[in-house]
Amino acid sequence: MGETKLPFDIDSIVKVALGEIREITEVNELEKWRVKYFGRKGIFAMLTTSIPEMEQTLRPVIGARINSAKKQLNEAYEERQAIISSSFKEASRFEMNLTLPGLRSDYGSFHPITLVSRQIVRIFQGLGFGVHTGPEIETDFYNFEALNTPADHPARDMWDTFYLDTEKKFLLRTHTSPVQIRVLEKMPVPLRIIAIGRTFRRDAFDASHSPVFHQVEGLMVGYNITFSNLKAVLSFFLKELFGPEIKVRFLPSYFPFTEPSAEISISCVICKGKGCQTCSSTGWLEILGAGMVHPEVFRKSGLKDNKLTGFAFGAGIDRITMIKYGIDDIRLLFFNDIRFLKQFR
Ligand code: PHE
Repeated sequence: MGETKLPFDIDSIVKVALGEIREITEVNELEKWRVKYFGRKGIFAMLTTSIPEMEQTLRPVIGARINSAKKQLNEAYEERQAIISSSFKEASRFEMNLTLPGLRSDYGSFHPITLVSRQIVRIFQGLGFGVHTGPEIETDFYNFEALNTPADHPARDMWDTFYLDTEKKFLLRTHTSPVQIRVLEKMPVPLRIIAIGRTFRRDAFDASHSPVFHQVEGLMVGYNITFSNLKAVLSFFLKELFGPEIKVRFLPSYFPFTEPSAEISISCVICKGKGCQTCSSTGWLEILGAGMVHPEVFRKSGLKDNKLTGFAFGAGIDRITMIKYGIDDIRLLFFNDIRFLKQFR
């Protein structure tokens, strides 16, 4: 079969279209080109609608020619589209604003109670104290009885207790002092230890009280341990913790498990002792309870050697943390608000 003569020149349509597309550099021009050739009223649509008007034998030939032309132009279209979009990306790469701050990865931080606990541990480890823990659920024996505080003892009012059973045998420890007994039962003397942990009292939850709080307990037992050792260790500790410029004051106090007992204050770190809201205008902040271990505590722990002496102390870590960082509401330590916690490193 020889050359079929067509009523229009497909080859030159293709040639023109290819010439046009080669010049195109913008997406919207490319779209105009597509509409011109492939749109609903475009050139190919026109050509296709004219087929039925043609001579019967010509129709399949023209159909095939139109299809191959469309295929060729479609390939050219896709090629051009790829070129335009890659050059667009290239251009926008150079428009990148290098002065914008980068995306920082977020980091965690330590809870202020953790930071202060670690500092306390470090100070006492430097003095040769071991670090112990005890259970948060205690028995009446360890929390009270062995600490010379029997059931009918008036000093029980000092600790408003969460009991866990109706017989009041199990409770949430009201202080870390039961660890003293557990350590004395197990460890050989002489010994010096601290214990840090959570403690519980049926207190309100307001700016200065929390039913859950933290204590550090200390216990040093041996021969010839005197009140002078207590004073020396605790003065050293408080100056390490709050700075060498603070003053330390010892006043007589009462605890059933120490005799004599003392309450220990530091000069107010906020007003330097002049008197402010934090120290209720007294110039002093009470930090520690302490005293010489009561002989009954040794006896209840199974130690019979009456030459043994020792001192013990207890302090609220939450309160120390608040004083150190100037936190005025204890609840902030328990809300776990990330905006608060992030301030501590
Ligand atoms: N356990 C006492 C309290 O919580 C503090 C204390 C501990 C006092 C050790 C003396 C000796 O109040």
